[in-house]
Amino acid sequence: MSNNVKKELRFEFGANWQSYLDHNLSPERIDQARQHLLSFIGREDLRGLRILDIGSGSGIHSMAAFQAGAAEIVSFDYDAESVMATERMHAMCQSPENWLVMQGSVLDPEFMKSLGQFDLVYAWGVLHHTGAVWSAIDLASTCVKTGGLMYIALYDSDWSAESPEFWYDIKQRYTASSAIVRRMYEAWYVARFFLQYNPFRLAYLLKYVREYKKKRGMDFYHDVKDWLGGWPMEYTRIYEVVPFLQGKGMRLLHTKTGDLITEYLFSSRQKCDGLSIFLEMDIPMKINWEVISIREHNDFSILDSTKPVFIYGAGKGGSLVKYALDKMHIKTDAFITTSQSGMHDGLTVLSLDQFMVKNIVNAQIIIASTSFDSISFGLVSRGIIKFFNAYPYVLSRL
Ligand SMILES: C[S@@+](CC[C@H](N)C(=O)[O-])C[C@H]1O[C@@H](n2cnc3c(N)ncnc32)[C@H](O)[C@@H]1O
Repeated sequence: MSNNVKKELRFEFGANWQSYLDHNLSPERIDQARQHLLSFIGREDLRGLRILDIGSGSGIHSMAAFQAGAAEIVSFDYDAESVMATERMHAMCQSPENWLVMQGSVLDPEFMKSLGQFDLVYAWGVLHHTGAVWSAIDLASTCVKTGGLMYIALYDSDWSAESPEFWYDIKQRYTASSAIVRRMYEAWYVARFFLQYNPFRLAYLLKYVREYKKKRGMDFYHDVKDWLGGWPMEYTRIYEVVPFLQGKGMRLLHTKTGDLITEYLFSSRQKCDGLSIFLEMDIPMKINWEVISIREHNDFSILDSTKPVFIYGAGKGGSLVKYALDKMHIKTDAFITTSQSGMHDGLTVLSLDQFMVKNIVNAQIIIASTSFDSISFGLVSRGIIKFFNAYPYVLSRL
């Protein structure tokens, strides 16, 4: 490194994972991690599979894969302390020879090539922390065998009410701060986003913290630090990730949005025996999505008030969007829901099939629902690739 190049700002993920192992690891959490992994890929065990755990962090998910009977596991992480944490988990399993723990980077093409091909490539909450998310996704996909699976989880900006820039700024400030300032950021984050500055929400917070281990065996406080510190970080959107990996010959089997992060299960090529349960809808192999995210009130001004407007979602989110449009003197023609028709807020609610039959030219569809992932797939499977996603707008106002 030249003397002119500044040391890059990077959160100490590994130290946080070591602390998690010291304070929170339990058989119950390992069980949760295993159940989450297996249920997302729709299997009862991992027998006979060669598994790659990219950015293994604490190592709990590699251990979960080992306990689920994987034939071979390769775990690696860029951070030396994460590697040490994973080695601790490896040692707890009597250092099995079919589980290899290494230090390496998903961004290193030679290293990735040397690992060979896998039945399951797992990279949960990792690729967006590399500083080059698209290269990381690309290189991770090269390790998937034909017919193999790729299970990745990425921060999705459409699951955030605040702009990406807001969080990029917080994360850099937190990572560059002293321990005491970091504690202040943590207190602010919990007070603002969990308590909403309302002491009466304390009981809700305590229950949430107690039950947090159900989320893949994780721990609330360590995840707060991981979230606030997690730098480098880049957001992606489902509308970018799916076409990108389809372009690499991957087929989307399953997604799950929520809690900032979107989980994806892809298979390489079309064929993936026993996984047809996930193919709930016919997603075309080439999607050229054109989706505009709406976060702020003014973002609605991008709509053309001379063209018909439909709000997808006839719940609280739909009402909020209609109210915003009313204030801007933009007329809403009707609501759409996936299957139920009727009335909402004085307007007709069309099922998606009824909407399609009407064949409306130039319709502008605005999604106002938490299920924006499945709604988007429903639209694209009917040939609609251009629409608006107002879920980020709805999120901060509900
Ligand atoms: C948020 S943690 C996730 C850990 C684990 N996958 C989990 O789900 O608990 C992200 C991990 O990715 C690792 N990481 C960041 N950049 C990486 C890279 N280029 N190659 C491999 N791992 C990387 C970090 O060191 C960290 O341990």
